[in-house]
Amino acid sequence: MSTRSRPAFGNGVSTSLTGLALRAGSVVSTWPPRTAVITGASSGIGREAALLLAADRCRSLLVGRNGAALDEVAAATEGHRIAVDLSSPGSELMVSSRATELLGEVDLLVCSAGLGAAGPFEVMSPAAIAELVTVNVLSPMMLVRAMLPAMLDRGQGRILLVGSIAGALGVRGEVAYSATKAALLGFADALRSEVAGRGVTVTLCLPGVVDTPFFHRRGAPYVRRWPRPIPAGLVAQRMLAATGRGDAEIWVPRWLLGAVRVHGAIPSVYRRLAGVFG
Ligand SMILES: NC(=O)c1ccc[n+]([C@@H]2O[C@H](COP(=O)([O-])OP(=O)(O)OC[C@H]3O[C@@H](n4cnc5c(N)ncnc54)[C@H](OP(=O)(O)O)[C@@H]3O)[C@@H](O)[C@H]2O)c1
Repeated sequence: MSTRSRPAFGNGVSTSLTGLALRAGSVVSTWPPRTAVITGASSGIGREAALLLAADRCRSLLVGRNGAALDEVAAATEGHRIAVDLSSPGSELMVSSRATELLGEVDLLVCSAGLGAAGPFEVMSPAAIAELVTVNVLSPMMLVRAMLPAMLDRGQGRILLVGSIAGALGVRGEVAYSATKAALLGFADALRSEVAGRGVTVTLCLPGVVDTPFFHRRGAPYVRRWPRPIPAGLVAQRMLAATGRGDAEIWVPRWLLGAVRVHGAIPSVYRRLAGVFG
């Protein structure tokens, strides 16, 4: 297993990860990865992750629905792309078999595809709830299920899941979305524990408000003055660096962890503050 001397997460962004090899169990995993599958690669955080990985000469399979947007990212990254609706049953098998065909062994799986929903839960349509759960929870679980056995067989691999602060601190007006991201948190925790020492790492990224088309797509723009949305490129950079280190979780921005600690230690105080600040 070689550690390659390559620019780590280019675009002038230094993560001090060049050549870093993580010892997970008895196996040393390469970093930066040579190959990656990235869902949500057509937009926002997933797109930025694809660009950063490509700058480190990682060969990727880009997954999304919007063929034109995927083409643009594929051209910029010299990556492969597959246009697929991840809410369709069996889509995870299409992605994993295409990945094997095009990339061979997959070092990194990034699950960034997801959607939001805003508004009172009592008027949310059952179809919208089902779609949210399917795309945000079922799809990453199925994709991990499809790709994990090969990683475990090789004794190496990295899984990066994009959750949300809403999964740790339920957000009013985003009840179903919060529930899906809480499910992802439980999934990541349990999976990490289950595969520990077998060469596969599981990193969960928990971003706050990120400047992407996410809010426009959910039909409710972000209107608060604070906290201000952070750039998607910053989230991508931090989550990839955390994955390279084999960290369990990465909070972006970091101060979010403070709010989560207050929530865990003194929930009554947190609830009072949340009642004021929302
Ligand atoms: N933006 C935020 O403030 C924020 C905060 C916390 C967490 N997050 C999480 O970050 C992740 C990325 O979101 P983003 O902010 O980058 O939003 P985004 O720019 O809207 O990107 C969402 C991505 O998910 C893909 N996607 C959605 N539904 C899909 C489906 N059924 N099949 C295949 N692909 C699908 C989209 O593909 P197409 O465009 O090709 O359909 C797109 O590439 C999500 O999991 C989101 O929950 C976002």
